[in-house]
This record gives sequence, C-alpha cells and structure tokens, in this order.
Amino acid sequence: MNVGIDKINFYVPPYYVNMVELAQARAVDPNKFLIGIGQSEMAVSPKTQDIVTFATNAAKEMLTKEDLASIDMIIVGTESSIDESKASAVVLHRLLGIQPFARSFEIKEACYGATAGVQMAKNHVALNPNSKVLVIASDVARYGLKSGGEPTQGAGAVAILISQNPRLLVLEEENLSFTQDIYDFWRPIGYDYPLVDGPLSNETYVQAFQKVWQEYQKRYERTLKDFSAFSFHIPYTKMGKKALLSILETETSEEQTRLLEQYEASICYSRRVGNLYTGSLYLGFISLLENSKTLKEGDRIGFFSYGSGSVAELFSGKLVKNYHEHLNTQDHQKLLNQRQALSIREYEQMFEDSLDIHQSATFADPTPYSIIKIENTIREYRES
Ligand code: COA
Repeated sequence: MNVGIDKINFYVPPYYVNMVELAQARAVDPNKFLIGIGQSEMAVSPKTQDIVTFATNAAKEMLTKEDLASIDMIIVGTESSIDESKASAVVLHRLLGIQPFARSFEIKEACYGATAGVQMAKNHVALNPNSKVLVIASDVARYGLKSGGEPTQGAGAVAILISQNPRLLVLEEENLSFTQDIYDFWRPIGYDYPLVDGPLSNETYVQAFQKVWQEYQKRYERTLKDFSAFSFHIPYTKMGKKALLSILETETSEEQTRLLEQYEASICYSRRVGNLYTGSLYLGFISLLENSKTLKEGDRIGFFSYGSGSVAELFSGKLVKNYHEHLNTQDHQKLLNQRQALSIREYEQMFEDSLDIHQSATFADPTPYSIIKIENTIREYRES
C-alpha cells in the first residue's frame, strides 16, 4: 500500500519586514542579509496570533468534510508551545471540527519535531489504511531585536495530511536518523528567546547532513543520480545550500547545476518568509513543487530534516502521477503578496508588544482564528 502526503498547505502572518531596510537600520551591508544569509523578507507576527492561529489557518482550507471524519490523529510539531501541559493539537481539534475519536498531541525536538510526526503518521496509516493523520508544523522563530539571529526570524505553519493513495508524494521505506547531544541552540524553560551558538549550529547542520548522507548511500545503495531534488530544513536560504554544496564537490558540473537549480526552486518561499523552525523543511517542499520547472511524476525527492540539539533525518518520497493538479500555487503567491510591509519602527513595536496572559483583555485582530480574548490565562480564538 502507498502512504504519503495527500495534501499540504502553509500559512504565514499578514506582516513582513524588508531585509534591506532591516540591514540599514542595523548598520549592516544589505548584501549580508540578501546574499550572505539569503533572505529578502521576514514574516512578523502580532501578539494576537500564535501557533494555534497559524495551524488552523494552514489546515482549515485544505480539509474536506470527509477528511474531518477520517482524521484520527493530530500531531503538532512545535518549539513555540503556548502551554507546558496541554497540547495545542487539542485546541486545533476543536477549531477544525475533527471527529471526536481522535488522538491529539504535540511533539518537540527543535526544528525536527514535525518530521517525527510525519514518520509516525506514515506508520499509523500503514497499520490503519482508512485513517488519515493531520501533521502540523507551527512556530514563531524569535531571537530578539538586534540579536545575531534577528535576520533569521520568521513565523507560520505548514499543514500536512498523510493518507493512503496520496495525491502528491508517496513516502518510501528508506529513512535514516542521527542523534547527537550538543548545545548549538536550546531554550531553557522560562526563556523567551533561544540561546544559540550560530557558528556551531551551522557546522553541526552541515556535518549531520554529510554523516546521514554517507550512511544512507551505504544502507540503501543510492547515489545522487537517484534523486531529482533535495528539500532541506531552511533556517535561512543559504544554510541548505551550504550542506548541498558540501556533497557536490566531487560531482560533474552538470550534476551540480541540476541539483542547485532544484534547490533554488525550493527556497523561493523561505526567502520571503524566514525561518518557520519545524515547518521550514515542508515550506521548502511546497516551494519546490510549485516553482520547479523540471520535476515530474515518479521523481524521487530527498528530504533533510534537522533539529538543533540535535536530531537529523534523511528520508525520501516519490512524486505521484498528476501531482501538479493538486497544488495551490496561486493562493500561496497571493498570501505572500498581500501581506503588509512594516517599517522597522512598526516591526520593533509589534515585536515588543507581547501577550500578557495574566491580564484579561479583548482584541480586534480581524484575521481568522486570531486571539480575541484572554481570560484566566486562557486564549479564546476568533471562529468566524
Ligand atoms: N555581502 C555578501 N555576503 C556577506 C556580507 C556582504 N556584505 N557580509 C557577510 N556576508 C556573508 C558571510 O561571509 C557569511 O557567509 P558564509 O556563511 O557563506 O561564510 C554570511 O554572510 C553570514 O555572515 P556571518 O558573519 O557568519 O553572520 P553572523 O555572525 O551574523 O551569523 C547566523 C549568521 C546565521 C549564524 C546567525 O544569524 C544566527 O545565529 N542565526 C540563528 C541560528 C541558525 O539559524 N542556525 C542555522 C542552523 S539550524
């Protein structure tokens, strides 16, 4: 039986900052952000939107009544939890109107969490062919104003529906995980922002990719020629490219061009959004499907997932016949194009205006599923 990605959609909040303006405000050469880091815009979230808001918006439009009746597991991968105990998946289950006999929970391992969800979903559907699993990656990537990580912030969610006979991608049985206990990026309980050793996180990411690729080649007797493209975790668009280039050194220029062209297609959306943490790999996959001029049915895609701390995984899938008929390219471009640009002053104000859950309040953000009320620390979401 074939199991894989039947539907996939993303949502980002309706505000962004232009990276040239951010560079100028921080007295940095704009080319450092545009070329050195590879970002041209960065998504910014107001205090009235959170991982539940993003997740519901990403999932709502793509799910039919039949999906809502068949989903029996909802997994949210996040490192931006809004509660230490209760999973956001439980709130999401109600907001989306999923049938009651479902399992709902959250997974955490930095930017890797959603991949654990995808693999668990695949195994669950393989054992229960009529069920569907909703996996959501939802995060707010925040490093702090004027911090080293500031140009690599972002926010948003990707919703993925895993089922049998998927319309987009069949997940293959080949996958390889790699764990090493390392402090490249972590956020102790009570900290608003992560602690990060930027150079170490870059180095660990590239080395983890090289290690899993070497072992993967041996275990599954694969070479680069078996892959039409790779989709990477993209904390910023230069990062995946560094990893890819590190295994292309000994390849022909034809082979390098082929994979680098696909890489460029995979970063179109991230370049305008920034880091989605757990969602970045899957935003890259959507971008690849919707912007590649050469991908076709039957092509094998390699996925490299990386979560600081750290866990990495390389896995693969094959594109399904007529997959391109099920893409939402125009809607996605509209979502990005209709966002409002913020001045640096507006961005800084929005960034510092954080939600105080100890203060009862009402809000008037018209965005669907935004927070409309805080009472007794509980968030109430707009439902119409
Ligand atoms: N024109 C073009 N490129 C420029 C430039 C200019 N004027 N100025 C600098 N650059 C390049 C640098 O050469 C470097 O490129 P390289 O990485 O290919 O060598 C790149 O821009 C970044 O410069 P660097 O000095 O390393 O930036 P930084 O010290 O500000 O740190 C990060 C960058 C990404 C490490 C930092 O933003 C961060 O910590 N981010 C969060 C952690 C993260 O995303 N980790 C990724 C793995 S999960």
